[in-house]
Amino acid sequence: MAKSHTVFVCSKCGTQTPRWQGKCHECGAWGTLLEEAVPERKLGGMSLNVGTASELISLSEVGNVQEPRFSTGVADLDRVLGGGLVKGSLVLLGGPPGIGKSTLLLQAASYVAQQGDEVLYISGEESPRQIRMRAERLGVMKQSGSCSRITLWSETALENIENQLRGSQAKLVIVDSIQTIYRADLSPAPGSVTQVRECAAALMRLAKGCGITILLVGHITKGGDIAGPRVLEHLVDTVLHFDSHGMHNVRVLRTLKNRFGNTNEVGFLAMDSEGLHPIPNASAFFLSQRALGAPGTVVFPSMEGSRPVLVEIQVLVSDSYAAEQGVPPVRRSVGLDANKLSLLLAVIQKRCHNYSLGKSDVYANVAGGVRLLEPALDLPLSLALVSGRLGIEVSSELVAFGEVGLGGEIRAVSGCEARLIEAAKLGFKKAVMPLRSIDDSLRRTLKNNALNIELVGVQTLAEALRYCGLGSVKRGGSSGKPSAGADPFAEYQ
Ligand code: TYD
Ligand code: MG
Repeated sequence: MAKSHTVFVCSKCGTQTPRWQGKCHECGAWGTLLEEAVPERKLGGMSLNVGTASELISLSEVGNVQEPRFSTGVADLDRVLGGGLVKGSLVLLGGPPGIGKSTLLLQAASYVAQQGDEVLYISGEESPRQIRMRAERLGVMKQSGSCSRITLWSETALENIENQLRGSQAKLVIVDSIQTIYRADLSPAPGSVTQVRECAAALMRLAKGCGITILLVGHITKGGDIAGPRVLEHLVDTVLHFDSHGMHNVRVLRTLKNRFGNTNEVGFLAMDSEGLHPIPNASAFFLSQRALGAPGTVVFPSMEGSRPVLVEIQVLVSDSYAAEQGVPPVRRSVGLDANKLSLLLAVIQKRCHNYSLGKSDVYANVAGGVRLLEPALDLPLSLALVSGRLGIEVSSELVAFGEVGLGGEIRAVSGCEARLIEAAKLGFKKAVMPLRSIDDSLRRTLKNNALNIELVGVQTLAEALRYCGLGSVKRGGSSGKPSAGADPFAEYQ
């Protein structure tokens, strides 16, 4: 038997060290180093078999062939994959337990089987009976021919899987989950960093060697104490993340890495009693419960990857009673960065003098539970803040986007065309946006698509506020109520 020594492996990033440390020197995580036994490599007296050297090939001689792809039948899954699954690729689907990973993959398996191809579903977590019960809920059993082409296998030993796959006719193999697969000659337990990494590497070789597409499920634990899919990210071709959304039955599918397509793509799916369903018009869905005519709300055409999604920014501003006792007012944000909120409040305070929000409690929210990080959010959020402060509504026919600089200037952002097309399609009539982003080609595109939306180019936040009817009012005396009066931006004109 091979003599073994132990190493300490970081469960977060996979780094190995010979001694235990409280903090991983590579990723900086605390308390993540776990001891694992590693069998000694048998080098003494043996020559290493490195196999036949592969051929050298000039870049120009490499054929210009598109990777052959096939659909999963779930439009949003296809989109985040860059247009379907690539033959012979290894895809990792990560996400917290219970989010619907097995459901999504069984739906994909059912579609592939319906097209006449063989699917092998290897489950180390559930028995074939449990998978059958899920298939019944999803209506897979009703599709003639589909279930006979899906083979279920409760197997966790990598060696058996390797042997099976080498002669397999399957087009798609699902491994649910990578944390349950183990290599018998390695002593660490299944799910440990070494096991997960070695098994995934072996499956990668199989996928490439046999031309089989393999979909791996990977669990992310909250504490990250066992090997999370991060260890695998370098190894696999594509990493997808499946997670919940603010609304309890909405799921978001994101691409974190893709060797065969765009990253940052997003898919929205709704879970009901019959499985996961695409939400084709995400913008209409997120705006469906919009409160028309309420001060403090502005519609923002956000970009989720290459996809525009209209969301409503909501702000509630109220007088802070705590401020009178010298306690700082409340600032709360849901779905957007709290630092961004503070920064914009400071810009408004400094650049638009009469809108002091220093003694107000401010609550900002992205309705529908979407999380936004883009700089283009600055302008609609600033408009919503002032609208909420003054109690004056912003026209419900208007969308706004643009980055706000510390000088109160509006900076250009990307994706204007897609944002405007989506807004016009949903019936919005005006777009307040960076003047710099408006050019002839943008106007031509809108004209060619027969989209009727007025472009309001602005250079400063003051201009944008004034256009929205928030610029020519002054907060009156001690009452705190707005009253018509001097232009607060007079000194910035
Ligand atoms: P599952 O796919 O097992 O999640 P994961 O593989 O990520 O752990 O699905 C988990 C939850 O989804 C489960 O609590 C039940 C729910 N669900 C539905 O709401 N509708 C359905 O049709 C199915 C199959 C599951
Ligand atoms: Mg599962």
